[in-house]
Amino acid sequence: PEPELRTRIAAAKATLGSRLAILGHHYQQDAIIDFADFTGDSFELSRRAADQKGVEYVVFCGVHFMAESADILTDESVRVILPDMGAGCSMADMANLDQTLDAWAQLKEVSGDQPIIPITYMNSSAAIKAFVGEHGGAVCTSSNCRNVLEWAFKGGELPEGPAGSVTPKILFFPDQHLGRNTAYAMGVPLDRMIVWDPKQDLGGNTEEQVRNAIVVLWKGHCSVHALFRPEHIDDVRRNHPNMKVIVHPECKWEVVQKADMAGSTAYIVKQVEAAPPGTEWAIGTEVHLVNRLKQQHPDQKIVVLSDCQCLCTTMYRIDLPHLCWVLENLVDGKVVNEIRVDAHTRKWATVALQRMLAIKG
Ligand code: 13P
Ligand code: SF4
Repeated sequence: PEPELRTRIAAAKATLGSRLAILGHHYQQDAIIDFADFTGDSFELSRRAADQKGVEYVVFCGVHFMAESADILTDESVRVILPDMGAGCSMADMANLDQTLDAWAQLKEVSGDQPIIPITYMNSSAAIKAFVGEHGGAVCTSSNCRNVLEWAFKGGELPEGPAGSVTPKILFFPDQHLGRNTAYAMGVPLDRMIVWDPKQDLGGNTEEQVRNAIVVLWKGHCSVHALFRPEHIDDVRRNHPNMKVIVHPECKWEVVQKADMAGSTAYIVKQVEAAPPGTEWAIGTEVHLVNRLKQQHPDQKIVVLSDCQCLCTTMYRIDLPHLCWVLENLVDGKVVNEIRVDAHTRKWATVALQRMLAIKG
């Protein structure tokens, strides 16, 4: 029963004291957020993880790629734990290293002397982050994607030295929508972006299309944000003319174009917090965050943009029984569900993540 679980978690947390930090992503259930020492979007949480000095355990209430990044960014001595190993991310699973190496070889062959800078969204495996780090690129999140792309267009950190006068081509993993939305906002025309389908030769493009492309978008997407459609915004405009529409940039381009604002989960939280009473919002992101904002701001009208259950089922796997289980094991001196990235991957993924942290700051 929930009250008993809450009591047990609070007791374990108190016993572990300053040896433990619990990080919680904005998409987590309220019951989990209640126990988080820090909450935030994936950028904020990666910074928090990097700041954890003197802590023995980081329990990451989020998904697998976030816990991997936390392991990479913390000292070797810090043990990072994911309460449920089944908490993955279908988008991150859409790009693997073999496919990446294959795409890279093909792109290099067609692009000749033009440098290519790989950029990966945080929502990717440590192996993809390491690939990116080793090839002069960086990680980005939805809150700093534009800054990272600007850095990449200037040449990133190519192993063979600065790109000189040739503007590099960007290979963007794995979320085509974040890549397209951000590059478009920076002035890259849609017809200079191609989608790379790893299951097809040349990603399903002609040589000319590849040569002409400024941005190559990996064929990946978030199945939660894919549920928001332009018609949902048309309905809001028809039925609630005063309502502002704010969406996450993992939504499709057509949705972002019709929305009033688009930004990371932290951006969405900030906009709602800064709005005066009476503001009306239709929010296009995961339902737990929208419902939490609704509870925290009863003086505003807040609805989910669409009647679908926009729930990230893997985030939802982190629940009180799993949190209780990992914490009570720690109290007993046992580390369960530890996330450990191997040394080679760690080395280059660190480079890619540190570049991101440096670009932002
Ligand atoms: P942010 O936390 O960067 O907004 O990303 C949302 C998300 O989908 C996390 O998986
Ligand atoms: Fe992955 Fe989408 Fe869930 Fe984020 S919301 S963890 S991108 S499936």
